[in-house]
Amino acid sequence: MAGPIRERSIAWTRRHESTALNTFSIGDQPPLFVRGQGPYLFTETNDAYVDLIAGSAVTNLGHGLPAHREAIARTTEQGIYHTGTRLAHQERAALYHDLASILPPSLSRFHLVSVGTEAVETAIKAAQYHTRRPRIFAFEGGYHGRTVGALSITHAEHLHRIFSTLRDVVTFIPYPYRFRTSDDGVDETELAASCLETLEQRLAEAKSTGDLPSSIILEAIQGTSGAIKPPAGFLTEIRRLASQYDVLLIVDEIWTGFGRTGKWFAFQHDDVEPDLVCISKGLTAGLPLAGVAGRDDILGTWPAGIHTSTFQGNPIACAMARATIAEIKANRWVGHAAGPVEQSFTAKLTPLFDRSSVRDVRCVGAAAAIEFIQDDGAPDPVRRRAVQDACFERRILVYGGGRQGNTIMLLPPINIDAEVLNDTLDQLVDIIESVT
Ligand SMILES: Cc1ncc(COP(=O)(O)O)c(C=O)c1O
Repeated sequence: MAGPIRERSIAWTRRHESTALNTFSIGDQPPLFVRGQGPYLFTETNDAYVDLIAGSAVTNLGHGLPAHREAIARTTEQGIYHTGTRLAHQERAALYHDLASILPPSLSRFHLVSVGTEAVETAIKAAQYHTRRPRIFAFEGGYHGRTVGALSITHAEHLHRIFSTLRDVVTFIPYPYRFRTSDDGVDETELAASCLETLEQRLAEAKSTGDLPSSIILEAIQGTSGAIKPPAGFLTEIRRLASQYDVLLIVDEIWTGFGRTGKWFAFQHDDVEPDLVCISKGLTAGLPLAGVAGRDDILGTWPAGIHTSTFQGNPIACAMARATIAEIKANRWVGHAAGPVEQSFTAKLTPLFDRSSVRDVRCVGAAAAIEFIQDDGAPDPVRRRAVQDACFERRILVYGGGRQGNTIMLLPPINIDAEVLNDTLDQLVDIIESVT
């Protein structure tokens, strides 16, 4: 199992890497992967692991996709690794064109940046510039990144404690998650209605005090909190309220975009058009690239130089993003996520509901989440960890976390072969049955 590359790499990592990274979260002796192919990662001794983490919802088309290799080879061959945004580049321009082809016509301006949290910062600033208002409404359970601005609208208290953030301009609205401690097991539709009522009240109050927000930002389906999909119509109602109060609607699609939830974008589960949309992760399926898609009168009117960064729209990353979009379109992978992948999840995982240790199973396109509880009904992060470790022993990589730390998340490539997925899920169910 262990080879010389791993020994050396782990030793250097342990010696030099900032301990704030998660490298040792899998265990004291994490694996080291040297090769990837489709849904598999391989160690230097050729042990294959099924990757249901996908680099945190990034490698949505699996590892080593030929179209990605070709895109990188083509652009590196041209010898331009970077131009900066002071010079135009054909790959960047072509990516704008490709992005416009998969988004509503109202979202045809793009501001490219490097990573998700920077896209969120960009959207916040664009909304503040457009409305000349500082306040932001965000949602409980939402995750938007770790830089100071994005962290301010990320709900989890433990991520804030030490750090100074901009929380005094942020108002959190409840999100329809059934297992918020106080309203365990309530009816989802009623819960969504009460969340919307709170939103409307907060907007009315803000209007009466002359402190309306610039934007309402949310994940249309919450990702890191564990594939939490509000009832149909929830986003439509938020859109209506945003328009009524003249507040911009920002949808953060960084986790959910590019087919993960069985639509190109999660906001398409409701028939709405946001004002700004944050994208990243699955956009390139690998290289760092992110952006904001927005209305012409928002992203097409702020002055040059008001918000820039060095690596905006890197040509190689843009080429990879174009290959991603072309590959998803040509092979109809969004339909694959919505069809065979979701069907496998539902068929294999919903029987787990019968187990007293399982509180919820959610399957949305190519994302699934399983929540574990203790005998007294409290969230069970220990059991979740035991399942995760047992999966790792069987060479299945699963994502652990969720809003209460008790959730296993499965994020296969959206193009995963149904047979491979079914076989892996059979093993996973076996593991859950033996551990719980
Ligand atoms: C919805 C959402 N927004 C923003 C981010 C931050 O992206 P990054 O980690 O690239 O900064 C994430 C990361 O997981 C995310 O899931």
